[in-house]
Amino acid sequence: MATAEVKSNPNEAWGSRIGLILAMAGNAVGLGNFLRFPGQAAANGGGSFMIPYFIAFILLGIPLMWIEWAIGRNGGRYRKGHLPGMFAAIWKHPAAKYLGAIGLLIPLVVLSYYTVLMSWTLAWTWFSITGDYWGLTTQEQMSAYLTSYQVIGDGSSHDFWVPFLFFFLSLGSTIWILSRGIESGIEKLAKIGMPILFLFAVILAVRVMFLGSGENGVSPVAGLQFIYQPDFSRMDDPKVWLAAAGQIFFTLSVGMGTLQTYASYLSKKDDIALSGIATASTNETAEVVLGGSIAIPAAVAFFGVAGAMQVAQSGSFNLGFVSMPLVFQSMPFGQVFGAMWFGLLFFAGITSSVAMATPIVAFYREEFGYKRETVSWVVGLVALCFGLLSIFWFEYGFLWEWDYWAGTFGLAVVAFIEVVLFMWVFKPENAWHSIHQGADIRIPSIYKFIMTYVTPLYLGIILVWWGATEALPFLRLEGGKGAGGQIPEGGEIYVHASRLLLLAILAFFLVMIRIAWKRNGYDDRVGFREVEDTPLGVAPGKEMV
Ligand code: PHE
Repeated sequence: MATAEVKSNPNEAWGSRIGLILAMAGNAVGLGNFLRFPGQAAANGGGSFMIPYFIAFILLGIPLMWIEWAIGRNGGRYRKGHLPGMFAAIWKHPAAKYLGAIGLLIPLVVLSYYTVLMSWTLAWTWFSITGDYWGLTTQEQMSAYLTSYQVIGDGSSHDFWVPFLFFFLSLGSTIWILSRGIESGIEKLAKIGMPILFLFAVILAVRVMFLGSGENGVSPVAGLQFIYQPDFSRMDDPKVWLAAAGQIFFTLSVGMGTLQTYASYLSKKDDIALSGIATASTNETAEVVLGGSIAIPAAVAFFGVAGAMQVAQSGSFNLGFVSMPLVFQSMPFGQVFGAMWFGLLFFAGITSSVAMATPIVAFYREEFGYKRETVSWVVGLVALCFGLLSIFWFEYGFLWEWDYWAGTFGLAVVAFIEVVLFMWVFKPENAWHSIHQGADIRIPSIYKFIMTYVTPLYLGIILVWWGATEALPFLRLEGGKGAGGQIPEGGEIYVHASRLLLLAILAFFLVMIRIAWKRNGYDDRVGFREVEDTPLGVAPGKEMV
C-alpha cells in the first residue's frame, strides 16, 4: 500500500498511511466511545437503542464520513483546511464561506468543555493510583465524591484547586502536542496512544467478563444481553432515534470540521474511500465491542439491569465515574484496573481534543500566515477561559448547554449543510467521482443513492423533529429545564450567558472570515487558485518516510 501522499500545505502532511488512519481513528475514538455510548445505550433501553443506532450508522455515519473526507481533500487542493474555505471551494457563492463559520465555532466550543471532561479522567486516574476513593463503597458516597469535584466550593472531598490543576494539565498537554504539528505532534501521539488504548480496553473487557455475579446474582453477561438483544418495544419512540443519531455524529466526529481538516492534508492520489470506511469501522469496534463490554456489563453485574439504567439516567458520566470505581474496589489489584480505565479514557480523549483545535489553527495559518505555535497557544488561552466558565458554572448546566447546542444539535446542522452542498450543489456525479479519486476500493453504487436522497432527508427530518421536541423547549426553558436538566434557583442567567457567548463567538468568526477574504482578495465567484502539486508525496522541504 502506498504511503499517504502529501499536499503542499505549508509543511503539513501525514507521514504514512498507517499514521493517517491511526490519527483519524484517534480523532473519532474518544470519550464518546467509552463514556457517552454506554450512558446513552443504557439510558435508552439497551437493545432498543442499538437498532436505531445501526441504522443511523449505515445511513448517516458512513455516508458523512466519505463526504467529509472528500470535502476536506478537495479543500486541500486550494490549501483550505477549514470549512469556510472548503465550502467556498464547492459552492461559488458569497454565502458559502459564512456557512462555514459554524465549522470554526463548534470545534472551539467543544474543545473548551471536552478538555474539562478529559481532566476528570486524568484526575480519576490519579485518584485510582493513589487509592483516594478507596473506602467509598456506596453509590451515594461515590456520587458525593464526584459532585465535590465538579462543584467548585463544595470542599467535602477535594480541595478547591484540584480540578483546576487537572484541567491545566489536560489542556496544556493537548496544546503542546498540537503546537508540534500534524506529523510530529498528532500522528506521533496517535501511534503511541491508540495501541495503548486498545490494549487497556481489551484487558478491561476481559476482566469485566470474569466478574462474579454481584449481590444481585446477575452476571456481567446479562449486561451484554441487555445491549445486544434486539428490543423492538421502543422503536416508535422518537427520543431513542434522536439519541442514536446524536451518538453516531458525536462518536464518528462528523459535523464538526475536524475530519475535513485532517483530510485536507491528502492529495488526489490518496485513497479516501477505503480509509474512510476503515476509520468508521475502527471507531465502531472500539465503541460497540469494547465500549459496550466494559461499563455496562460491570454496572449490570453490580446493580442489575434496572439499577444500571438508573445510574445511566442519573447523569451522563455516572456509569464511568461512579459505578466503575465501586467495581474496582471489589477487585484484587483494583487500583491498577482503575488506573487503566481512566488512563484509557484520557488517551481516548487527548487524541480527540488535539483534533478539535486543528480547524482554527488551519484557518489562521492559511489565511493570516500566523505561525502554528502562536496560533496553538492562543487557541489554548481562549479554550482556557471558556473551560474555566464551564468549571465555575458547572452546577448551572453551562457545560451541558454547550454540549447540546454545539456538540449535539450543531453537528447535525453542519452535516446537513455539507450533504446539501456536496451532493446537490456540487452534484452527485462530481461527488461520486471525487470520492473515488485515488480510491483503493469501489463503493457499492447504492451509496450514491443513499448519499443523494436518503442522508439529506434523514438529516432534515432529524433537525425538524429535534428542533420541535427538544431544542425549542430547551430554548424556552420550559418547566425550568435547560439542556442540562433542571436549572437550579437563580441559574437562568448562566444558561442565557452560555447561549449568548455562543452567538458572540459565531459573530466573531463571521467577521474574521470577512476580513480574511478581503485581506487575501478572494473572489467568491471565481474561486481559489489551485495549489501546485508537489512531486509525488513530498511536501516542500520534507522527505517522505
Ligand atoms: N468523536 C469524539 C469522541 O467520541 C469526539 C469528537 C467529536 C472529536 C468531534 C473530534 C471532533 O469522543
